[in-house]
Amino acid sequence: MCYNQFMPKNSFLVLGLMSGTSADGIESALIKIPDAPLQLRPKLIGHASFPIPKAVRAKILEIAEGARVPAGEISQLNFCLGELFSEAALSVCKKLRVPVERLDLIASHGQTVFHQGQPVPFAGARTASTLQIGEPAIIAARTGVTTIGDFRPADMAAGGQGAPLVPFADYLLYRHEKLGRVSLNLGGIANVTVIPAHAKPQDVFAFDTGPANMLIDALVQRFTNGRQRFDAGARIAQRGQCLMPLLEKLLRDPYLRLQPPKSTGREYFGQEFAAKILTEGRKLRAGPADLIRTVTVFTALSVVDALNRFVLPRKKIAELIVSGGGARNPLLMAQLEAAVAPIGLLTSEQFGVPEQSKEAYAFALLAYETFYHRPSNLPSATGAKGPAILGKICYA
Ligand SMILES: Nc1ncnc2c1ncn2[C@@H]1O[C@H](COP(=O)(O)OP(=O)(O)O)[C@@H](O)[C@H]1O
Ligand SMILES: [Mg+2]
Repeated sequence: MCYNQFMPKNSFLVLGLMSGTSADGIESALIKIPDAPLQLRPKLIGHASFPIPKAVRAKILEIAEGARVPAGEISQLNFCLGELFSEAALSVCKKLRVPVERLDLIASHGQTVFHQGQPVPFAGARTASTLQIGEPAIIAARTGVTTIGDFRPADMAAGGQGAPLVPFADYLLYRHEKLGRVSLNLGGIANVTVIPAHAKPQDVFAFDTGPANMLIDALVQRFTNGRQRFDAGARIAQRGQCLMPLLEKLLRDPYLRLQPPKSTGREYFGQEFAAKILTEGRKLRAGPADLIRTVTVFTALSVVDALNRFVLPRKKIAELIVSGGGARNPLLMAQLEAAVAPIGLLTSEQFGVPEQSKEAYAFALLAYETFYHRPSNLPSATGAKGPAILGKICYA
């Protein structure tokens, strides 16, 4: 995609950068916002993905899975990722043919390596905390563009869980007078934002339903010894049979029954969980394709289970709008479509935001709000006691 149209002076260009729990790459979204502070009418100008080198990805996963590493490793990775995010920003500008000097702002979510949304006992006190790394001061220095990072702590300081923050964008994109909608992001983890018909911001609620691509990716990597990172086009799963006893067991997982608000991550649906599935698979003498198919079906049904338990009894929903890399998995999408009917299955692309860039788009919006000193958390989604202006600003 190329950007070379006339840019009126009264519009604002924000580049959003995001790397999710899959740590598969840095997604970016460049948005243009007519600079009329009280009306937010963003337009996506372009988007791109930037690879994360294997060695860096390995460090991220090691730390995010809770390995006991010295603080120095995390500090080094923070700066290393700051450089990588800067390269991604410069590279996407080049690709979209937008001189970096034209950017007004960069929004960098960073890489989550730890998230504890609910307070737990720690050093004699109850503490909740979150850590996104990829030093924004480096991004500001390398690009010469004011950079906002670290969006989650301000919501937590206001008593929220610091997540999810994407509902602000979901509300803007999907709110409808007559149709109730659910936004579903299929990243490493699956999360939903419920936007009832005619919703006010306080009517929006959101939670993580369970795994999205995380278990599928983990099994594919195990079976291919790391040669393949994910099941492209669901080609492996399509060759297998769904193992009903294993599927039923997975659907009894206690996380699914937990009342929202709830969030989860690599700590729960990571390598250990995948290892348990492998053990079950051996007992059933199942082949790799059977296991990958079963986990793909489980992933789809865990989303549907969450809708049936916690959403549909309370709200009338007409459409389910999917984003994230999982939208490219045809088996996952087909399973979802069949199980949610008559609710219609759509993708964020049909609302002008391609699946891969939706979260980067959302954080670009949040940074714009912060720039104008406006709060952008939705307390009904995060549990915060009130509004919070999100992020920390590194001036260029
Ligand atoms: N063509 C495809 N076929 C099947 N799965 C895909 C495809 N493209 C992406 N994915 C899945 O999407 C995942 C990445 O999704 P993404 O939204 O970037 O997650 P995260 O936000 O956790 O980084 C990949 O790890 C893979 O499992
Ligand atoms: Mg990703």
